Amino acid sequence: MIGMENLLLKLMGSSLVGLAIISFAASVGYAVQRETAIIPRPQKITFHKGHFFTIRPDTVILADKAAMPTADQLRNAIAQATGYFLTVQMPRAIHENCISILLDSDLAHLGREGYRLSVTTPQMVITAADNAGAFYAFQTIRQLLPVQFYSKTPVRGIDWKIPCVQIEDYPRFAWRGALLDLGRYYMPKEFVKKFIDLLALHKMNSLQLHLTDDQGWRIEIKKYPKLTEVGAWRSQSVKGHYSVKPRRQYDGTPHGGFYTQDDIREIVAYARQRHVRIVPEIEMPGHAQSAIAAYPELGNTGKKLEVSINWGVHKNIFNADEKTILFLQDVLTEVLELFPSEFIHIGGDEANKTQWKASPKIQARIKELGLKNEDELQSYFIKRMDKFLVSKGRRLIGWDEILEGGLAPNATAMSWRGTKGGIAAARAGHDVVMAPTTHTYFDYYQSKDKKKEPLAIGGFLPLRKAYEFEPIPKELTAEQAKHVLGAQGQLWTEYIPNPKKAEYMGFPRYCALAEVVWTKPESKDYSNFIERLKAHLKRLDILDVNYRPLD
Ligand code: ACM
Repeated sequence: MIGMENLLLKLMGSSLVGLAIISFAASVGYAVQRETAIIPRPQKITFHKGHFFTIRPDTVILADKAAMPTADQLRNAIAQATGYFLTVQMPRAIHENCISILLDSDLAHLGREGYRLSVTTPQMVITAADNAGAFYAFQTIRQLLPVQFYSKTPVRGIDWKIPCVQIEDYPRFAWRGALLDLGRYYMPKEFVKKFIDLLALHKMNSLQLHLTDDQGWRIEIKKYPKLTEVGAWRSQSVKGHYSVKPRRQYDGTPHGGFYTQDDIREIVAYARQRHVRIVPEIEMPGHAQSAIAAYPELGNTGKKLEVSINWGVHKNIFNADEKTILFLQDVLTEVLELFPSEFIHIGGDEANKTQWKASPKIQARIKELGLKNEDELQSYFIKRMDKFLVSKGRRLIGWDEILEGGLAPNATAMSWRGTKGGIAAARAGHDVVMAPTTHTYFDYYQSKDKKKEPLAIGGFLPLRKAYEFEPIPKELTAEQAKHVLGAQGQLWTEYIPNPKKAEYMGFPRYCALAEVVWTKPESKDYSNFIERLKAHLKRLDILDVNYRPLD
């Protein structure tokens, strides 16, 4: 027989009654306090002041098989911070003091990344159409708990209380990205994982790994071992700023490293569990000197080159021989085996055409293909990659230079030189990702007074500016705007030689970008963001993130 108490619990568990209870409470909107310091700001939140759900050692997690990946993540996070090893059960009976994770196609209108979170005193209920949404509910729960929840070892004596809230949340954009340049500096795999954790914490879902550049080739390719044997190592690096006059300085220290295919698999799997897609970037036809140093026949001069020790745009680019195109398609074949991402980035930026102009072979190739000039040859080159990737069921994405000489039919453009390229591509019916230098280059200075900051490439991109970025240009119609998949923040690393500095440059600007790509513009408010950020930075302290302090 069902007792009165159980009946009551059962009633409270149903979301209808839960809603009714919540509606008794004043909907307090956004009084900024620890309880609501959620970044990115959820689309809808009702806060039931003064009431809490508490995680205790006997709290039970209820999840069916489909929701088990998220249930395990939640259980592990709780064990790590609290030392409580909660039981996970199939949702057969309604318990008091339980956390339910329900995957329910009824929530499909919120998208696969959307979720509903209902916290009442007897229970907490996560509902989502997919584990991605449930995972984001879990991220929100982490932010609703006391900050010690981010600790990697159990913290005793804390009341693990979560305020009673009703949240309905989903992202504004599908592409919520970051770029990490591993070409200029190799960074340990452990840091790449930490960075993935930080992205996931901010409900970001895409990480572009810039794996090849003039100064280093960082991914093992079995068919062409010299790419890493030779291409992953340089004799030294620029010391100070590259533009220092009268004479550039070098540090005299060899630098290098690369990721084995097993390392890559590990990173991709780690990211996948956190709903972060890794988009590999293999640069072509420019930014290719490390590859040409390994295999001189890929270049235009036949000269033996060194892996570059300089920054800036280089003249040594791939030639456009059929053999070179096939070489790069072989490289991509191995890349495709490692990265399940639908999008494969082929670079395409800053291909200096000096050598192509001077090369009789290239000029003959232009004639043979019936092309007008070097831009059209670059376009031909990229179209070959587009066709290749499409034949393998993938999509090519490249920097906005790929528009020059004609955009490949299926290409997606990443607009970095402002938004012009993105606007043109969207108008032509192509998808675009916004990554303009002005608002998303997190290698730029964070203060107007550069002397107050560690050395950076240049520019000035304060937190406010990162926050105020609007990815959809006014020039686009509503229909064209649908082609804007989202935005991405870049950490180019010419002046970021180690993880600590990457964190300093990245945070809190990625916190701002997270809200740009998740939250509706009408819910964005800079001073409110800063108030939430102050609480949020305490989380980053516990996670040992070397963020730049607020002004
Ligand atoms: C770029 O910054 N060259 C894409």
